[in-house]
Amino acid sequence: MIIPVILAGGSGSRLWPLSRSKHPKQFHALVSAEPLLVDAARRVPASGAFMPPFVITNEENRFGVVAAFRTAKLACQGIVLEPEGRSTAPAAAVAAHLALERGGPDALILVMPSDHHIENPRAFLAAVEAGRGAAQNGRLVTFGIKPTKPETGYGYVKTAGPADQAGAVLKVDRFVEKPDRATAERFCAEDLYFWNSGIFLFGARAYLDELARFEPAMVAATLDAVQNATADPMNFIRLADSFRECPADSIDYAVMEKTEKAALVPLDAGWSDVGTWDALYDAAEKDERENATRGDVLLRDASRCYVRAESGLVAVSGVEDIVVISTKDATLVARRTESGTVKEVVQQLAATR
Ligand code: GDD
Ligand code: MG
Repeated sequence: MIIPVILAGGSGSRLWPLSRSKHPKQFHALVSAEPLLVDAARRVPASGAFMPPFVITNEENRFGVVAAFRTAKLACQGIVLEPEGRSTAPAAAVAAHLALERGGPDALILVMPSDHHIENPRAFLAAVEAGRGAAQNGRLVTFGIKPTKPETGYGYVKTAGPADQAGAVLKVDRFVEKPDRATAERFCAEDLYFWNSGIFLFGARAYLDELARFEPAMVAATLDAVQNATADPMNFIRLADSFRECPADSIDYAVMEKTEKAALVPLDAGWSDVGTWDALYDAAEKDERENATRGDVLLRDASRCYVRAESGLVAVSGVEDIVVISTKDATLVARRTESGTVKEVVQQLAATR
C-alpha cells in the first residue's frame, strides 16, 4: 500500500495578497472550484493502491485542513501538526516514521506538495504506478517534468539516459536544487534534464536510512517527536516539542542532491507549480486576447493579463501583461512575468509594518 503524505505547511508568499500565512494558498480554490489541498487529495483516491493520506501542517492551519476534508467528504489518515516548520525533509521523515507504524516495514510514502495543479490525474497515477517497483527496491523516486523555461525556483534532475518508452524509470546522474539563472539556461538546453516536480515516492524505510546517512540528527529528532506525539479525537497528531530542535532542510538539499539511490519517472500530466501568479495564468483558461480572469472583472483593451477580483469589481483598461489581484484589504498590481518578486513585497511589508 502507498500512504500519500500531503505537505501543507508552506506559506505561499508569492501569491500574496490572496495567500497569507494564516490562510495560505493551499486552502484557496486557485484553479478548480475546490482548494488546492483537496485537488491534491483527490488525485490519490483512498481505495486500491492508496491508504487515506496524512496531511502535515501547523497549528494555525489545522482547522483549515479539517474543514477542507470535511467539505470534500474525503478520509484522512491523520493531520500531523508541527510545532514549527522545519522544511520538507523533517516533514517527510515524520511521515515515514508514521507510515512504518501504520503500514508495516514495506510501507511506501508518496510525498506530495499541497499546492500544485495537475491537469491529467490519470497520467499522474500511471506515473506513480510506473515508479512503484523501483521504490519497492529501495530507489528514491522523483517525478520529472520536461523544462519549458529556465526557472530558477525548481530542482533540476539529469538522467543517465533518454526515456525510450512511456512509464520508464530512469537512472539519475545528478540533482541540482534551485540553480542560478545561467546554470538553469544551460540545463534547459540539454535533453537529459528534467525539473523535479517535488513529488516523491519512497519506501519509508529507504528514505529514513538514506536521511540517516546525511542528516542523522533529523532522523533522531523526528523519531522522538513522533514517539512523544499526542493524538486527539479530531484526528490531530500533535508532534512533541522536541521537533523544534530538528535541523531544518528540504528533501531536495538534504537527500536528493546527495543520494545515489535516486530514480526518475517522467511525468507528462500537465503539471504546474502554481507558485506565482504567472504560473496560475499559464494554468488558467484564457479569452481571445489571452486574458484570464476570476470574479467580477471588466476588461477594456487588455491583453495577456491575469485579473482576480476577490472582493468588489476590478476594471482594467489599456494594459498588457500585468496581474491585478484585489482582495478585501489589499491589492497587487505587478508585471505578470515578474510576479515572483511579490515575495520581496511581502518581506518588505513584514519589515516595515
Ligand atoms: N508540513 C510542512 N512543513 N510543509 C512544508 C514546509 C514545512 O516546514 N515547508 C514547505 N512545505 C510544503 C509547501 O506547502 C509545499 O506544498 C511543499 O512543501 C514544497 O515546499 P515549497 O517551499 O513550495 O518548495 P519549492 O517550491 O521551493 O521547491 C520544491 O518544489 C519544486 C517544484 O514545485 C522542490 O522540491 C523543487 O526541487 C521542485 O522543483
Ligand atoms: Mg513550491
